[in-house]
Amino acid sequence: MNVRDSEVICGLLQRSGYKISDDDKQADIIIFNTCSVRKHAEDRVWSLIGSYKGSKIIGLVGCMAQNYKDKAFQRDANISFVVGPQDIEKIPEILKRLSKNEIASSPAFGGAPRNDTSLPSAPRNDTAIPFLFERKIWETDSSSRPEEIYHTGFYQEKDHGQVVISEGCSNFCSYCVVPYVRGALRHRKQESILKEIRQAIDQGVTRITLLGQNVNAYRDNQVNFTNLLEQINQFDGLKELDFFTSHPKDATADLFKAIRDLDKLAKRLHLPLQSGSDRILKLMNRGYAAKEYLALIDSYRKIVKDGSLTTDVIVGFPSETDEEFKKTCDLVSKVKFNSAYIFKYSARAQTEAVKIGPELSRQDLEGRHKKLLDLQRGISNKLGNRCKNAKK
Ligand code: 5AD
Ligand code: SF4
Repeated sequence: MNVRDSEVICGLLQRSGYKISDDDKQADIIIFNTCSVRKHAEDRVWSLIGSYKGSKIIGLVGCMAQNYKDKAFQRDANISFVVGPQDIEKIPEILKRLSKNEIASSPAFGGAPRNDTSLPSAPRNDTAIPFLFERKIWETDSSSRPEEIYHTGFYQEKDHGQVVISEGCSNFCSYCVVPYVRGALRHRKQESILKEIRQAIDQGVTRITLLGQNVNAYRDNQVNFTNLLEQINQFDGLKELDFFTSHPKDATADLFKAIRDLDKLAKRLHLPLQSGSDRILKLMNRGYAAKEYLALIDSYRKIVKDGSLTTDVIVGFPSETDEEFKKTCDLVSKVKFNSAYIFKYSARAQTEAVKIGPELSRQDLEGRHKKLLDLQRGISNKLGNRCKNAKK
């Protein structure tokens, strides 16, 4: 999702006359499009921002921006602007404001040194951090994005286009920060999605990946996710179609039949399991039990012969016992995923899970992570696939 959001930002900037550079040394402006799902991702961004030492215009964008809002300026004074995921269309305008009179002091724009405080002030919310407000802009208040930001035609890969079909998430899995930083689930309009895909294909894209936190829940009036897949499958010039991510509570036999029947749709499914223990699944607020997950897999495999299957698992959720972890291992052994992303639980401040205790020791977390990785690696090797190692 963030890779696509970065493309959207690049498209908007290019349209406004900015040049996208591959070389951070040459660039005047560095924009960090960030993730808050695990703490490790945030730590890396803080350390990277610190490495630029005031020589550039630095923007913090995405989920961390939404999370920290104006507090990001206190965390690192090098940051000039903070923009949440629902406000990205404002970035060109913000850069214009920064480059004109409001922060003409920036060396990146050839102005006076950035510690020159004699400039006119601009941003609102100026009571929050009065000592910084002259050079800082933050936008984190919107709850949705205008459709037109998806139509700039910027794709990083020549033949592959990622297309957002829904934004946000309303599932509130207890460990997950996404509903707090990306807001409630919103579905994009079908016509706008189809227009974007047509435009991408006209530019030479032959493979499309549909994106959403839970694509199975897609709905635009009478059109559901399988209807949308059927329509896209008919596009001339399209060779392959796939999608990420599904939620077991919304995956149905109809979806599996679409995977079986639509000739361009890849015969693969990513279906996050998260845990094999019913007690932990309940604490995670996932809305299914292990048995139901297994029944779903059974149905998928019966309908989509030779379809591949991948998953996400979190080890070390607060209060997870050895016995409960073993249930996850048993389920992973039984299902035999082609590959799996295996994550160590990471506490996220806003979420319900932080109220659940006790948290596991670092040692137990590491131990369980390694055990499950080794188990899955063996399975993946046997099946001839690589096990995705999510390190942190
Ligand atoms: N800690 C660890 N993993 C997490 N995920 C989401 N939130 C957390 C967290 N707090 C994982 C889930 C999800 C994937 C995208 O990230 O497994 O499916
Ligand atoms: Fe997070 Fe759950 Fe929504 Fe996925 S479905 S984004 S894990 S809240």
